[in-house]
Amino acid sequence: MKSFITAPSTALLAALLALSPATSAFYLPGVAPTSYKPHDNVPLYVNSVKPVAALQDALLHSVMSYDYYHERFGFCKPKDGEPKYVSESLGSILFGDRIMTSPFELRMAQNETCKTVCPHTYEKTSAHFVNKRIQQGYALNWLVDGLPAGQQIKDEITDTVFTSPGFQMGSMDFANVKKPRPVFNNHYDIVVDYHAVGGNHDQLRVVGVLVQPSSRAYPTGKVDCGENHPPMFLSEEHNTEVHFTYGVYWRESGTAWATRWDKYLHVFDPKIHWFSLVNSAVVVVFLVVTVSSVLFRALKKDIARYNRLDQINLDDLSGTSALEDGVQEDSGWKLVHGDVFRTPSHPLLLSIFLGNGAQLFVMTGFTICFALLGFLSPSNRGSLGTIMILLYTTLGFVGGYTSARVYKSLGGEKWKLNIGLTPLLVPGIVFATFFFLNLFLWANQSAGAVPFSTMLVIISIWFVISIPLSFAGSWLGFRASAIEAPVRVNQIPRQIPPTTTYLRPLPSMLLVGILPFGAIFVELYFIMSSIWFSKIYYMFGFLFLCYGLMIITCAAVTVLMVYFLLCAENYHWQWRAFLAAGMSAGYIFANALIYLISKLSLGGLAGTVLYIGYSALLSFLFFILTGSIGFFSSWWFVQKIYSSIKID
Ligand SMILES: *[C@@H]1O[C@H](CO)[C@@H](O)[C@H](O)[C@H]1NC(C)=O
Repeated sequence: MKSFITAPSTALLAALLALSPATSAFYLPGVAPTSYKPHDNVPLYVNSVKPVAALQDALLHSVMSYDYYHERFGFCKPKDGEPKYVSESLGSILFGDRIMTSPFELRMAQNETCKTVCPHTYEKTSAHFVNKRIQQGYALNWLVDGLPAGQQIKDEITDTVFTSPGFQMGSMDFANVKKPRPVFNNHYDIVVDYHAVGGNHDQLRVVGVLVQPSSRAYPTGKVDCGENHPPMFLSEEHNTEVHFTYGVYWRESGTAWATRWDKYLHVFDPKIHWFSLVNSAVVVVFLVVTVSSVLFRALKKDIARYNRLDQINLDDLSGTSALEDGVQEDSGWKLVHGDVFRTPSHPLLLSIFLGNGAQLFVMTGFTICFALLGFLSPSNRGSLGTIMILLYTTLGFVGGYTSARVYKSLGGEKWKLNIGLTPLLVPGIVFATFFFLNLFLWANQSAGAVPFSTMLVIISIWFVISIPLSFAGSWLGFRASAIEAPVRVNQIPRQIPPTTTYLRPLPSMLLVGILPFGAIFVELYFIMSSIWFSKIYYMFGFLFLCYGLMIITCAAVTVLMVYFLLCAENYHWQWRAFLAAGMSAGYIFANALIYLISKLSLGGLAGTVLYIGYSALLSFLFFILTGSIGFFSSWWFVQKIYSSIKID
């Protein structure tokens, strides 16, 4: 596998970061190798404590992460005082990283079999809190030289060993089947792999970190890290004293620094993954080819007929031969030519959505391309989040321009409102939801709560960069000429005949929406597990293909629906196209709810609200994205077909 660390990515990210004055405090770790000499101090940092799937049932029991130094955990602090934050990127903070210094001392290539850190006495409430977290399958996340400490896991299907980031805070003792007891891990065996480079083999680099936690109830005065101690239970009836110990083992390894991430990037059953991708690709391609060939032939016939009629009408004014065909002219999409470009209802809202949709579209496209080129390697912690935020803010220009140009073309008149609301409405909704969900995290003292200072940074980036850029885009959009309709709009709107069942708004939306959803369904599963189970997501090649398939499907089925709609002499196609394509977000939300029932078992209200809130937020953005794809492809289609017929 190729190296994930590329020099251009650093330069590019640095350039992007330089665009935003507020982010100068963040730096990009993990992009250059650090070499240590034997006995050099290798810092071990601790990250927030996150839930992973519980061992007993493989379900996720919580979505809330906690600070490592949350007082109830009682983990030891560094010897020289309070733990300090290690600087992080904006995206890393947003995605829930809280990296801090730790009391663990690692000296390069120097084994330690038994070191003690502080003892801690757990009171009843703390013991209850910790036991609950063990039950929910929480894992500790440590970082050594930017590499997450993991546990080795064997994939039974492919028979390969890989490293899964994070290690269990405790385990469940099933000796008493009715009432399993949580076992607390208080000893850590840290195994660090290093690779020697340089002339004298004296430059040592960290290329792998494993932590094997275990539980050892030491008798008083005998903290010896021995393995023959009984497991440690935290009593909820009386105070329990716990001694924390650790050992460090250094192993020389042949793994080069550039490939040290490879063992973290494990694909569960790649065959199934490829199979389902190829499967959906075949279905999509088949569908699109069928749809477009049918549509193309139908249109060709329609256009030929319309133009022939025209010709006959002109040639033969007596109209005897036209009469034979003339009956046919009373049907089909040509009849609504005087209404099809009529301004839809709520043009302001539609254009704002479309502007933001275009912005999202370009942002997602760029992000996936960056990822494909290897810029968003997992060693740049949070680079995905950072780059998405920066792209979205700078692409405010695209949003403003599109919104204004569409609004002008739709014949809207409240241009001031359009300029003002384009950068405010959708981001405002997103930010308000985000803020509301953050309140839940704050209330639960979760580390996932975004700090107030980070919120301020985001808001100021927004006001300083995005809004002015959007205004500039809007200004240019209004200055540009409106996109002219190929046919004139009649004074009096036509009556719309009653439509058949499947063309009614709801059935058509349900039918159209399911296909784009089907195109990304496979990938969605992996994205969800990377979001909620904190797995590393890196299959951007798959994502790229799925995203492409989704765009094609979305455009093709929406165009088909619009064609049927126009044939049924219904000319309200603008909102219908937007909503029908956007309906795939409805399926995504429904899928998230099914996931909630089948893969998660969130006990409390807060966890459920958070999960549903974030799912709704993502679905809303997806709604705007797919809706815009549907609208723009339909708009192009309508423009094309009406400019190819002659209207007298
Ligand atoms: C340190 O421990 C590892 C693992 O047990 C062992 O392979 C290695 O030889 C030890 N190194 C030294 C210097 O003792």
